[in-house]
Amino acid sequence: MLKVLEELEKRRAAARMGGGQARIDAQHAKGRLTARERLDVLLDEGSFEELDMYVEHNCVDFDMDTTRIPGDGVVTGSGTINGRLVFVFSQDFTVFGGSLSERHAQKICKIMDMAMKVGAPVIGLNDSGGARIQEGVASLAGYAEVFQRNVLASGVVPQVSLIMGPCAGGAVYSPAMTDFIFMVKDSSYMFVTGPDVVKTVTNEVVTQEELGGAITHSTKSGVADLAMEDDIDALIRTRAFFDYLPASNRSGAPYRPSADPWDREDMALDTLVPAQATKPYDMHEVIRRVADDGQFFELQPAHAANILIGFGRVEGHVVGFVANQPMVLAGCLDINASKKAARFVRFCDAFSIPIITFVDVPGFLPGVAQEHNGIIKHGAKLLFAFAEATVPKVTVITRKAYGGAYDVMASKHLRGDLNYAWPTAEIAVMGAKGAVEIIFRKDIGDSEKIARRTAEYEARFANPFVAASKGFIDEVIMPHATRRRVALALRKLRGKRLENPWKKHDNLPL
Ligand code: HXC
Repeated sequence: MLKVLEELEKRRAAARMGGGQARIDAQHAKGRLTARERLDVLLDEGSFEELDMYVEHNCVDFDMDTTRIPGDGVVTGSGTINGRLVFVFSQDFTVFGGSLSERHAQKICKIMDMAMKVGAPVIGLNDSGGARIQEGVASLAGYAEVFQRNVLASGVVPQVSLIMGPCAGGAVYSPAMTDFIFMVKDSSYMFVTGPDVVKTVTNEVVTQEELGGAITHSTKSGVADLAMEDDIDALIRTRAFFDYLPASNRSGAPYRPSADPWDREDMALDTLVPAQATKPYDMHEVIRRVADDGQFFELQPAHAANILIGFGRVEGHVVGFVANQPMVLAGCLDINASKKAARFVRFCDAFSIPIITFVDVPGFLPGVAQEHNGIIKHGAKLLFAFAEATVPKVTVITRKAYGGAYDVMASKHLRGDLNYAWPTAEIAVMGAKGAVEIIFRKDIGDSEKIARRTAEYEARFANPFVAASKGFIDEVIMPHATRRRVALALRKLRGKRLENPWKKHDNLPL
């Protein structure tokens, strides 16, 4: 009996060595952890239960039958993060460069299927040279099996991708279909075709980092939600992030009680909005002063920074914050901001997370580039997302709410449940200057008349009371009471039931 136990222990030890000490050393030399070390940091101590440790590839071409490594380049299983179940896969770059074989894909699919069955999130740690070249179409088939599951799992269980090494070719599409992507600076990259192919086809010379590094994707493209400093930072912050995620669309996000008084008044909010309408202020202040303990887990902070998105809590319950940021592009909505916020709103709605929207928006960003690149369709994404969302929606207009952007930003007309305005709110079709120049065009040469008309327009519309008189604003609230009012709103809305008409699915403007 003892002999078989020893044999098992030996097999386990061999599997844990992956591609061998030399390759483990090479991984460390690049400043990266191994697949198993990463799971040790991500999961609660001792909670990881591995599956399929002895799975091997089935390829015989290119002498592959002489090299079989147990596990086949991916470590899979389940564990807990702060006590909550999660299914994980972690690609092992020391084994065939973490490349995806048919069996490697089967292992990933198995844990995805289990996660779907029991209703638990999936976190994938990606570090892979892409399709296992020796396996050809079998590897492509494996990818497609994973893709199909990503799609079916979307909106059922949260899916998070950490990119911790290369991620090239079609391999990028599985992460792209997950809910959140976190990359590691200077050590991970994502592209459909690498620098060499780019050079051949377009004659552009670009480094891997410039083409698809963490900074590129978390600033320019918006593909990644966050750029982390290194492996440890990425894993520790993913643990913190996990606390905001519900297990599935059938269970709410985890409740974490807070000692922060629900009715805490914050006098600084009363003077936050500058007297001058064109002067910016930092909308982060509003979010932090409303959220429990000032905690705001911001996503995509460096991409489309004219809109803020992220999670926080109010009275211990998770909420999604969406807010215009007057410090960047005056808080205008543009293509990137619309896409960024729309996807976040849809995540919150799919997983029953209430949405708190802070509004200070002078409108959609004008410009030829915006129009030619499709602001109409992309702006409509955010409109569509807010309109279809059935979760509790609480909106606070802090200053400008102009034009179409007023409608878009979770207005009463898009089934906003409780729509508040600060006394500093200005709700109108457009700003006074633009409005007067259009409706009093014939007087444009007469500066005195124009000034008088502008003052008239401001007196009439630069306040929340016209909208409030029509019931489009439920109440004009004191800025210092915002947390209390939001908390009370959310309490009331906890029992909200609202369903959209039956349909196979909608046709979001893509
Ligand atoms: C098989 C692979 C591999 C792959 C790497 N290896 N990628 N084996 N299939 N796709 C192996 C290498 O042969 C090497 O084995 C070991 O992994 C480590 O690779 P290195 O090249 O030594 O590492 P490094 O210098 O860090 O470079 C990493 C890399 C490079 C940039 C990822 O390996 C690379 O360019 N690989 C190919 C990437 C690629 O073109 N993939 C296919 C994409 S197409 P030894 O034994 O020498 O240590 C695709 C289609 C999917 O993915 C479509 C789905 C729809």
